[in-house]
Amino acid sequence: MCGIVGYIGHKEALPILLKGLRRLEYRGYDSAGVAIAHNGTFKSVRAVGKIDNLAAKLQNENIQGTFGIAHTRWATHGGVTEENAHPHTDCSGDIIVVHNGIVENYRELKDKFLKGHTLRSQTDTEILAHLIETQYSAFAEASADKQGALRAAVQSALSYVRGTYGLVVMHAKHPRTLIAARLGSPLVVGVGDKEYFIASDTSPMLAHTQQVIFLDDEEMVEITDTGVQIFNLQDKKIDKHTEHIDWSEAEAEKGGFANFMLKEIFDQPTVIKDALRGRLVEDEGTAHLGGLNMTDVDMRSINRVILIACGTASYAAMVGKYAFERLAGIPTEVEVASEFRYSDPILDKNTLVFGISQSGETADTIAALREAKRKGAFVRGVVNVIGSTIARETDGGTYIHAGPELAVASTKAYTNMIAVLVMYALQFGRLRRVTVATGERLVKAFREISVKMEQSLKIESEVKKIVEKYKQYKNFLFLGRGVNFPVALEGSLKLKEITYIHSEAYPGGEMKHGPIALLSPDFPVVAILTKNQLYDKMRSNIEEIRARKAPVILIATEGDEQAKELADDVIYVPPTMELLEPLVNTIPLQLFAYHMAVALGKDVDRPRNLAKSVTVE
Ligand code: G6P
Repeated sequence: MCGIVGYIGHKEALPILLKGLRRLEYRGYDSAGVAIAHNGTFKSVRAVGKIDNLAAKLQNENIQGTFGIAHTRWATHGGVTEENAHPHTDCSGDIIVVHNGIVENYRELKDKFLKGHTLRSQTDTEILAHLIETQYSAFAEASADKQGALRAAVQSALSYVRGTYGLVVMHAKHPRTLIAARLGSPLVVGVGDKEYFIASDTSPMLAHTQQVIFLDDEEMVEITDTGVQIFNLQDKKIDKHTEHIDWSEAEAEKGGFANFMLKEIFDQPTVIKDALRGRLVEDEGTAHLGGLNMTDVDMRSINRVILIACGTASYAAMVGKYAFERLAGIPTEVEVASEFRYSDPILDKNTLVFGISQSGETADTIAALREAKRKGAFVRGVVNVIGSTIARETDGGTYIHAGPELAVASTKAYTNMIAVLVMYALQFGRLRRVTVATGERLVKAFREISVKMEQSLKIESEVKKIVEKYKQYKNFLFLGRGVNFPVALEGSLKLKEITYIHSEAYPGGEMKHGPIALLSPDFPVVAILTKNQLYDKMRSNIEEIRARKAPVILIATEGDEQAKELADDVIYVPPTMELLEPLVNTIPLQLFAYHMAVALGKDVDRPRNLAKSVTVE
């Protein structure tokens, strides 16, 4: 977790770093700090809480300089205090470090190398600053290449480290040099016009350049005013290409919405078209996702699909399971990444594993995919962030093209993941058992889905009224069946994440095996009752709830007048093919959670304790 940004160039660094931190705030926001080089020393300011607190503190300081680093933290080792906020320094204050990741053997390193050092925080990161200090003096004395001494000291220090890092280092004796290294935590270099950036992702640099270099694990970079040089940890130079990133800064802005989450909910009808563009083949009733890198023979050899993900992505994966089984007839499992990686999975060359991830940086998902690769499965990615670790480590896959998603609670990435997974299922299905007629119907439904999602958004004012009515409740139960069970899970997760209201989600039919005991007039139920093959079954479940006098809010299909008799409140959504229902049915639940959070005065984009990209195990 944590976000890093660094700058070296000809402009004032502080505004660039602060703006960059705001872009990265989704990665953690319990404290933040900045260090700027000026006249041979560093001026460092840190503050507990969100970036606004740091910005307020900086108003009383006069910090100038065109070279510096900054960090936003999500605590792992050491509580949320100013002392534990980054940047950290060595004893002399000459070495300044920001770090994303975990140094697992930090106690060992401390005992072995840091006797006599004065430590000022409880963090594992500070150990790194001191460890570099211990290595630096030897290299600075021995090496004729004074410039290379800092790089050598960092390499040497890292050779003792067990764990993960995205690390950026400055040294007072190397006034305009940034050294950065990566193992397991992402780092990107931005190459501008006589200015350079380093950050955890591309968003802090998009306003200045779209030319970037993605660092891979065990690579390091030395950035000076004259350019960028990449090395491995053994100091061997590496040639890497600069890549062009299409996302513009405007795409990462709020676009007039009150916050990112609302903007991203309303982005969905637009970005779903980006997920579908060029991938549907009308006259063959199929989809073609070019990045799969599998021949038809490979595709026919697959007898098992495993979808690996965390959080919201795992609920998108559950919809994918329905699609793969129904369309392609391939047994499909959904595995939560943190469980899969330690489950000793049985995999072979006929297994296709998809890693599904918005960020492409979720540590558990990355580790699970590496395990699957090791065991010989086909491993592919369904990812949003271009150039992310999962995108680069898998042997193929698909970008979901949702654009930058900055609110911590995922919305548009979820719907675009579903669209891509259903298209994959169709592509596999057409090689097996799906007829052209069925394929054509699904392609047609895909073509209409953006408009249906627009219609689903039109109910916002009704959702607001319902929120007013229910905002004092402390518990909610979400119910769905079939393809709408993952929708219920996602609706419940959204509510928990941003309102901190307790909620649970169950399959409609399972309710009577336990959760029904919870129901009372104080325990409202949100149920999805759209017109599909399980409609009558779900209706019976709702009757069971009514008999327990729990208030019922229904998501129902437009024109279903009976729904009104069953429920206290109904939100109508347009009909679509069953497999695509989650794309329209989830929207009212996203809006419900959103408006509930606003009504309760919560910070919608940055809910407590969460981070958007969980890059630690
Ligand atoms: C975190 C976020 C969730 C997200 C999950 C997986 O927990 O708070 O919103 O669904 O990580 O993230 P990924 O980037 O892999 O989709």
